[in-house]
Amino acid sequence: MRADNIVNFQFLAEPTDVNFGGKVHGGMVMKWIDQASYACAAQWSKRYCVTVSANGIRFIRPILVGQMVKVSARIIHTGKTSMHIYVVVRSGDPKERKTVVTNRCFITFMAIDESGYPIKVEDYVPQTDEDRMLEQVAMHAKDFAKQLDCDFEEKLGWK
Ligand SMILES: CC(C)(COP(=O)(O)OP(=O)(O)OC[C@H]1O[C@@H](n2cnc3c(N)ncnc32)[C@H](O)[C@@H]1OP(=O)(O)O)[C@@H](O)C(=O)NCCC(=O)NCCS
Repeated sequence: MRADNIVNFQFLAEPTDVNFGGKVHGGMVMKWIDQASYACAAQWSKRYCVTVSANGIRFIRPILVGQMVKVSARIIHTGKTSMHIYVVVRSGDPKERKTVVTNRCFITFMAIDESGYPIKVEDYVPQTDEDRMLEQVAMHAKDFAKQLDCDFEEKLGWK
């Protein structure tokens, strides 16, 4: 089992990250999620990767300016070309050890070659019960998102 399915980012929420209420912008959190997942997908595939879809993003609690932010991105499922990543964001006072979960997301990336064609990625094999449970969730999220894509695209006449 490869151990390089996880990437952790850690940094402080800065004044430029927050809105007038002193809380981090939702879009900034989405950027951090995307960046940590990109690093995770690139580490796994050793290729340039692009975001395919972000599913099940949840804003659970606000992140405040000056808090320590920890973003953990973990490959939990691979398809033929896709890498499905579970991202958890935590934050807390840097003077204390305690953090709380503020966000989570299931996000999908694909590795592409220089011409933009998808590249097959190495299979991720879950090892523990938790890994197997997360893989099931990722597969459900993928199926639901793809169904949503199909239904809407047909109804809106994109297809
Ligand atoms: C990403 C892109 C290359 C996908 O091309 P495509 O041919 O339409 O992709 P497909 O429909 O074949 O799906 C590709 C993979 O993603 C999976 N996928 C598709 N839609 C998905 C969704 N909503 N959620 C999760 N996975 C999804 C598919 O199952 C497939 O995986 P698999 O090969 O492991 O089975 C293309 O849509 C693109 O270039 N998008 C723009 C990307 C971008 O600009 N991202 C932001 C900046 S990096």
